[in-house]
Amino acid sequence: MSQANVAQPVGRMIVVASGKGGVGKTWFSISLAHALARTGRRVLLADADLGLANIDVQLGIKPERDLGGVLAGKMTPAEAATRLPDAGFDVLAGRSGSGALASLSAAAMEAFFAALGTARQQWQDVVVDLGAGLDLPQRRIAAAADLLLVVATEEPTSLTDAYAVIKLHGLDNPKGVSRVVVNMAEDRASGQRTYDTLRRAASVFLKRDIPLAGIIRRDGKVRDAIRHQVPMLTAYPSSAAAMDVENIAQALV
Ligand SMILES: Nc1ncnc2c1ncn2[C@@H]1O[C@H](COP(=O)(O)OP(=O)(O)O)[C@@H](O)[C@H]1O
Ligand SMILES: [Mg+2]
Repeated sequence: MSQANVAQPVGRMIVVASGKGGVGKTWFSISLAHALARTGRRVLLADADLGLANIDVQLGIKPERDLGGVLAGKMTPAEAATRLPDAGFDVLAGRSGSGALASLSAAAMEAFFAALGTARQQWQDVVVDLGAGLDLPQRRIAAAADLLLVVATEEPTSLTDAYAVIKLHGLDNPKGVSRVVVNMAEDRASGQRTYDTLRRAASVFLKRDIPLAGIIRRDGKVRDAIRHQVPMLTAYPSSAAAMDVENIAQALV
Protein backbone atom coordinates (compact mmCIF):
# COMPACT_ATOMS: atom_id res chain seq x y z
CA MET A 1 0.00 0.00 0.00
CA SER A 2 2.16 2.85 -1.14
CA GLN A 3 1.01 6.20 -2.36
CA ALA A 4 3.62 8.42 -3.85
CA ASN A 5 2.20 11.55 -2.33
CA VAL A 6 1.86 10.16 1.19
CA ALA A 7 4.99 10.49 3.30
CA GLN A 8 6.26 7.10 4.43
CA PRO A 9 6.80 6.81 8.16
CA VAL A 10 10.54 6.91 8.77
CA GLY A 11 12.04 4.55 11.28
CA ARG A 12 14.97 5.24 13.52
CA MET A 13 18.49 3.93 13.52
CA ILE A 14 19.77 2.85 16.92
CA VAL A 15 23.52 2.33 16.82
CA VAL A 16 25.19 0.27 19.54
CA ALA A 17 28.83 1.22 20.06
CA SER A 18 31.51 0.93 22.70
CA GLY A 19 34.92 1.51 21.23
CA LYS A 20 36.18 -1.53 23.12
CA GLY A 21 35.32 -5.13 22.29
CA GLY A 22 34.09 -7.72 24.74
CA VAL A 23 31.63 -5.51 26.60
CA GLY A 24 28.56 -7.38 25.38
CA LYS A 25 27.65 -5.18 22.41
CA THR A 26 26.61 -8.00 20.12
CA TRP A 27 24.68 -9.81 22.82
CA PHE A 28 22.96 -6.56 23.81
CA SER A 29 22.16 -5.61 20.19
CA ILE A 30 20.47 -8.97 19.64
CA SER A 31 18.57 -8.80 22.92
CA LEU A 32 17.49 -5.21 22.35
CA ALA A 33 16.25 -6.02 18.83
CA HIS A 34 14.36 -8.97 20.28
CA ALA A 35 12.83 -6.92 23.10
CA LEU A 36 11.77 -4.16 20.70
CA ALA A 37 10.20 -6.76 18.40
CA ARG A 38 8.30 -8.15 21.36
CA THR A 39 6.62 -4.78 21.81
CA GLY A 40 5.20 -5.24 18.32
CA ARG A 41 7.66 -3.07 16.43
CA ARG A 42 9.17 -3.98 13.08
CA VAL A 43 12.87 -4.42 13.78
CA LEU A 44 15.97 -5.03 11.69
CA LEU A 45 19.25 -5.97 13.36
CA ALA A 46 22.23 -5.11 11.17
CA ASP A 47 25.75 -6.40 11.77
CA ALA A 48 28.23 -3.63 11.07
CA ASP A 49 31.09 -5.44 12.79
CA LEU A 50 32.14 -6.76 9.41
CA GLY A 51 35.50 -8.34 10.09
CA LEU A 52 34.31 -10.11 13.24
CA ALA A 53 30.65 -10.44 12.35
CA ASN A 54 29.09 -12.80 14.82
CA ILE A 55 25.42 -12.00 15.27
CA ASP A 56 24.64 -15.13 13.25
CA VAL A 57 26.93 -17.18 15.48
CA GLN A 58 25.31 -15.96 18.69
CA LEU A 59 21.92 -16.70 17.16
CA GLY A 60 22.92 -20.07 15.74
CA ILE A 61 21.71 -19.24 12.24
CA LYS A 62 23.36 -19.77 8.88
CA PRO A 63 21.88 -17.07 6.69
CA GLU A 64 21.75 -17.76 2.96
CA ARG A 65 22.20 -14.09 2.23
CA ASP A 66 24.15 -11.43 4.05
CA LEU A 67 25.50 -7.94 3.83
CA GLY A 68 27.81 -9.02 1.01
CA GLY A 69 25.08 -8.55 -1.58
CA VAL A 70 24.26 -5.13 -0.20
CA LEU A 71 27.88 -3.97 -0.19
CA ALA A 72 28.21 -5.12 -3.79
CA GLY A 73 25.19 -2.99 -4.64
CA LYS A 74 23.27 -6.05 -5.81
CA MET A 75 20.67 -6.39 -3.07
CA THR A 76 18.39 -4.20 -1.02
CA PRO A 77 18.44 -4.69 2.76
CA ALA A 78 15.02 -6.36 2.49
CA GLU A 79 16.42 -8.87 -0.01
CA ALA A 80 19.53 -9.57 2.04
CA ALA A 81 17.80 -9.86 5.42
CA THR A 82 16.94 -13.11 7.16
CA ARG A 83 13.72 -13.45 9.13
CA LEU A 84 13.85 -15.01 12.58
CA PRO A 85 10.28 -16.22 12.86
CA ASP A 86 10.42 -17.14 16.55
CA ALA A 87 12.11 -13.96 17.70
CA GLY A 88 10.05 -11.82 15.34
CA PHE A 89 12.79 -9.63 13.91
CA ASP A 90 14.98 -9.57 10.80
CA VAL A 91 18.74 -9.86 10.65
CA LEU A 92 21.11 -8.38 8.14
CA ALA A 93 24.06 -10.64 8.81
CA GLY A 94 27.63 -9.51 8.42
CA ARG A 95 30.21 -11.58 6.71
CA SER A 96 32.87 -12.82 9.03
CA GLY A 97 36.36 -12.61 7.60
CA SER A 98 35.17 -10.16 4.96
CA GLY A 99 37.63 -7.57 6.19
CA ALA A 100 36.89 -4.76 8.60
CA LEU A 101 34.48 -1.92 8.06
CA ALA A 102 37.49 0.39 7.80
CA SER A 103 38.84 -1.51 4.81
CA LEU A 104 35.68 -1.32 2.70
CA SER A 105 36.03 0.34 -0.67
CA ALA A 106 34.47 3.77 -0.95
CA ALA A 107 31.75 2.32 -3.19
CA ALA A 108 30.93 -0.45 -0.71
CA MET A 109 30.81 2.05 2.13
CA GLU A 110 28.41 4.26 0.18
CA ALA A 111 26.26 1.22 -0.60
CA PHE A 112 26.20 0.29 3.06
CA PHE A 113 25.28 3.79 4.05
CA ALA A 114 22.53 4.01 1.47
CA ALA A 115 21.20 0.64 2.64
CA LEU A 116 20.93 1.83 6.23
CA GLY A 117 18.91 4.79 4.95
CA THR A 118 16.66 2.50 2.92
CA ALA A 119 16.22 0.22 5.91
CA ARG A 120 14.85 3.11 7.94
CA GLN A 121 12.01 3.37 5.44
CA GLN A 122 11.08 -0.28 5.92
CA TRP A 123 11.64 -1.03 9.58
CA GLN A 124 10.62 1.01 12.61
CA ASP A 125 13.86 0.25 14.42
CA VAL A 126 17.15 -0.48 12.71
CA VAL A 127 19.52 -1.68 15.42
CA VAL A 128 23.15 -1.59 14.31
CA ASP A 129 25.90 -3.56 16.07
CA LEU A 130 28.85 -1.33 15.32
CA GLY A 131 31.66 -3.50 16.61
CA ALA A 132 34.87 -2.35 18.20
CA GLY A 133 37.11 0.42 16.92
CA LEU A 134 36.66 4.09 16.18
CA ASP A 135 37.76 4.49 12.58
CA LEU A 136 36.12 6.92 10.22
CA PRO A 137 33.42 4.54 8.89
CA GLN A 138 32.34 3.69 12.42
CA ARG A 139 32.28 7.37 13.31
CA ARG A 140 30.19 8.10 10.25
CA ILE A 141 27.61 5.46 11.10
CA ALA A 142 27.52 6.58 14.74
CA ALA A 143 27.05 10.18 13.62
CA ALA A 144 24.09 9.16 11.45
CA ALA A 145 22.32 7.43 14.34
CA ASP A 146 19.02 8.74 15.60
CA LEU A 147 20.09 7.30 18.92
CA LEU A 148 23.59 6.17 19.86
CA LEU A 149 23.72 3.67 22.70
CA VAL A 150 27.18 3.62 24.22
CA VAL A 151 27.84 0.36 26.06
CA ALA A 152 30.30 0.51 28.95
CA THR A 153 31.35 -1.76 31.77
CA GLU A 154 33.06 -0.81 35.00
CA GLU A 155 36.48 -1.70 33.59
CA PRO A 156 38.64 1.41 33.28
CA THR A 157 39.55 0.60 29.65
CA SER A 158 35.88 0.31 28.77
CA LEU A 159 35.16 3.64 30.43
CA THR A 160 37.91 5.45 28.56
CA ASP A 161 36.77 3.94 25.27
CA ALA A 162 33.13 4.82 25.95
CA TYR A 163 34.27 8.35 26.76
CA ALA A 164 36.13 8.48 23.43
CA VAL A 165 32.97 7.36 21.58
CA ILE A 166 30.93 10.09 23.28
CA LYS A 167 33.60 12.70 22.54
CA LEU A 168 33.89 11.83 18.83
CA HIS A 169 30.12 11.62 18.48
CA GLY A 170 29.87 15.12 19.90
CA LEU A 171 32.42 16.38 17.37
CA ASP A 172 30.90 14.51 14.42
CA ASN A 173 27.29 15.33 15.25
CA PRO A 174 26.93 18.06 17.87
CA LYS A 175 23.15 17.61 17.89
CA GLY A 176 23.36 13.82 18.08
CA VAL A 177 21.51 11.99 20.80
CA SER A 178 23.35 9.41 22.87
CA ARG A 179 22.70 7.42 26.00
CA VAL A 180 24.76 5.12 28.15
CA VAL A 181 24.13 1.42 28.74
CA VAL A 182 26.11 -0.05 31.61
CA ASN A 183 26.57 -3.77 31.12
CA MET A 184 27.83 -6.53 33.41
CA ALA A 185 27.09 -4.52 36.54
CA GLU A 186 27.55 -6.43 39.80
CA ASP A 187 24.33 -4.81 40.99
CA ARG A 188 22.35 -1.68 40.27
CA ALA A 189 24.30 0.49 42.72
CA SER A 190 27.60 -0.47 41.19
CA GLY A 191 26.20 0.11 37.68
CA GLN A 192 24.98 3.50 38.77
CA ARG A 193 28.49 4.38 40.00
CA THR A 194 29.93 3.37 36.63
CA TYR A 195 27.40 5.58 34.88
CA ASP A 196 28.07 8.48 37.25
CA THR A 197 31.79 8.31 36.48
CA LEU A 198 31.12 8.51 32.75
CA ARG A 199 28.46 11.18 33.08
CA ARG A 200 30.71 13.36 35.19
CA ALA A 201 33.60 13.11 32.73
CA ALA A 202 31.31 13.94 29.78
CA SER A 203 29.75 16.82 31.68
CA VAL A 204 33.00 18.36 32.94
CA PHE A 205 35.26 17.87 29.92
CA LEU A 206 32.82 17.70 27.01
CA LYS A 207 29.99 19.83 28.38
CA ARG A 208 27.62 17.08 27.34
CA ASP A 209 24.83 15.59 29.38
CA ILE A 210 24.52 11.90 28.52
CA PRO A 211 21.42 10.26 30.02
CA LEU A 212 21.39 6.68 31.21
CA ALA A 213 19.52 4.21 29.00
CA GLY A 214 19.80 1.49 31.61
CA ILE A 215 21.91 -0.87 33.68
CA ILE A 216 22.25 -4.54 32.81
CA ARG A 217 23.38 -6.84 35.55
CA ARG A 218 26.08 -9.44 35.16
CA ASP A 219 24.28 -12.72 34.70
CA GLY A 220 25.68 -16.21 34.13
CA LYS A 221 22.70 -16.97 31.89
CA VAL A 222 24.16 -14.69 29.22
CA ARG A 223 27.05 -17.06 28.67
CA ASP A 224 24.72 -20.05 28.68
CA ALA A 225 22.46 -18.49 26.05
CA ILE A 226 25.42 -17.61 23.83
CA ARG A 227 26.95 -21.06 24.28
CA HIS A 228 23.69 -22.70 23.23
CA GLN A 229 23.24 -20.16 20.43
CA VAL A 230 19.74 -19.29 21.56
CA PRO A 231 18.55 -15.69 21.98
CA MET A 232 18.59 -14.63 25.63
CA LEU A 233 14.93 -13.60 25.63
CA THR A 234 13.95 -17.00 24.27
CA ALA A 235 16.16 -19.08 26.54
CA TYR A 236 15.97 -17.13 29.80
CA PRO A 237 13.26 -14.48 29.49
CA SER A 238 12.93 -13.98 33.23
CA SER A 239 16.63 -13.83 34.05
CA ALA A 240 18.04 -10.62 35.52
CA ALA A 241 19.90 -9.52 32.38
CA ALA A 242 16.92 -10.25 30.11
CA MET A 243 14.62 -8.18 32.30
CA ASP A 244 17.14 -5.35 32.34
CA VAL A 245 17.19 -5.31 28.53
CA GLU A 246 13.38 -5.42 28.42
CA ASN A 247 13.31 -2.34 30.64
CA ILE A 248 15.68 -0.49 28.33
CA ALA A 249 13.54 -1.40 25.32
CA GLN A 250 10.35 -0.32 27.09
CA ALA A 251 11.87 3.09 27.75
CA LEU A 252 12.71 3.40 24.06
CA VAL A 253 9.22 2.79 22.69
N1 LIG B 1 25.23 -9.00 31.23
C1 LIG B 1 26.18 -9.92 31.07
N2 LIG B 1 26.45 -10.80 32.07
C2 LIG B 1 27.41 -11.73 31.94
N3 LIG B 1 28.17 -11.90 30.84
C3 LIG B 1 27.96 -11.06 29.82
C4 LIG B 1 26.96 -10.04 29.86
N4 LIG B 1 26.99 -9.37 28.66
C5 LIG B 1 27.95 -9.97 27.93
N5 LIG B 1 28.54 -10.97 28.60
C6 LIG B 1 29.66 -11.82 28.14
O1 LIG B 1 30.54 -11.03 27.37
C7 LIG B 1 31.00 -11.78 26.27
C8 LIG B 1 31.21 -10.84 25.09
O2 LIG B 1 29.95 -10.49 24.53
P1 LIG B 1 29.81 -9.92 23.05
O3 LIG B 1 28.37 -9.63 22.85
O4 LIG B 1 30.47 -10.83 22.08
O5 LIG B 1 30.66 -8.57 23.20
P2 LIG B 1 31.16 -7.54 22.08
O6 LIG B 1 30.23 -7.63 20.92
O7 LIG B 1 31.12 -6.21 22.77
O8 LIG B 1 32.56 -7.93 21.73
C9 LIG B 1 29.95 -12.83 26.00
O9 LIG B 1 30.56 -14.03 25.65
C10 LIG B 1 29.20 -12.97 27.29
O10 LIG B 1 29.53 -14.17 27.91
MG1 LIG C 1 30.56 -8.03 18.93
